Amino acid sequence: MSRDSEVTDLPLEVKSVNTKEQKVFDGISFPLILSPSDTFRHKEPLFWNDWVKKNINAIENLLLKYGAILFRGFPFDTPKDFDEFAKAYDYNPFHNVYGLGVRSSVVGNVFTANELPPGGKIPFHHEMAHVKDHPLVLFFYCDLPAKEGGNTPLVLSNVVYRKMVEREPEFVNRLEKEGLRYMRVAPDGNDPKTSYGRGWQSTFFVSSKEEAERKAKEQGYDFEWLEGGSMKTLTDTLPAIRVDKRTGKKMWFNSVFTYAVVMQHDRNYDTIGVIFPNGDTISDETLEVLKEVMDEAKVTFQWQHTDVVMIDNRAVQHSREDFFVPPRRIMVSLFKDHQGHI
Ligand code: FE2
Repeated sequence: MSRDSEVTDLPLEVKSVNTKEQKVFDGISFPLILSPSDTFRHKEPLFWNDWVKKNINAIENLLLKYGAILFRGFPFDTPKDFDEFAKAYDYNPFHNVYGLGVRSSVVGNVFTANELPPGGKIPFHHEMAHVKDHPLVLFFYCDLPAKEGGNTPLVLSNVVYRKMVEREPEFVNRLEKEGLRYMRVAPDGNDPKTSYGRGWQSTFFVSSKEEAERKAKEQGYDFEWLEGGSMKTLTDTLPAIRVDKRTGKKMWFNSVFTYAVVMQHDRNYDTIGVIFPNGDTISDETLEVLKEVMDEAKVTFQWQHTDVVMIDNRAVQHSREDFFVPPRRIMVSLFKDHQGHI
């Protein structure tokens, strides 16, 4: 069944495509999938970079409405093509600091998404929700899909918020009023074997402990040096539910999952991960409800070579499925906004 009729205001060079993987929320399919219109199918990457520049307002309106746009069937054969497409939006690159996962530079503003080896998954999160200054627009690129799994499921954060209000109203009320603090242990040097193995040196882009301490203070972190040279940090209280000022919608903008679930399985085994400002922890039952809510609302699209997904990081969370057989090459380009845009 075609649902194309719901998509209006598309530039004529593209058409919307529907797949069984999409889900409908509030009457619209998520995510929006765009492909070149038939007449424009054979255009070169350069054409699409110019197209972005000419249609930036229309694309941003679509991003605001849908939360994520999957560009499928475009001629982005190499990471460099992807880099130029993402740069065509003219956003300011987000420097790769304060993240948790190990990333390597590929070309331009393109990085490997996460160096976590096969067999590990990454739970839903907004990129760097645990940091005051987070990227606003993310682009993921599929250079090589895994043979099986390894997709990047997405979820609308406002849908998660609404479902959590229905299931756990008191917990959500407390989150809104109090916010959360996040605790982690950054190793001495990168440890790509774990999903959040970025060392304190590359977390802060520093080489000495003194500089790391200065950066931690700038972010409002409490910190402590542990045996073996790792650094334990506890963030200031951060909002756990944010109102998106552009839409008035409340977003499940926190890192509860990342910190409460994954941290338990890394070197952080003796770290609590996420706490309320008074030190209270989140119960396993509540975490289980959150997992159910995420699973129910998530959309998993099968990666294809040349796919690019553009994500509004204020509205949509992403995650990574398990995969077991390498290779898999998914890349990311992160941006702050650009004055006048978004
Ligand atoms: Fe991420």
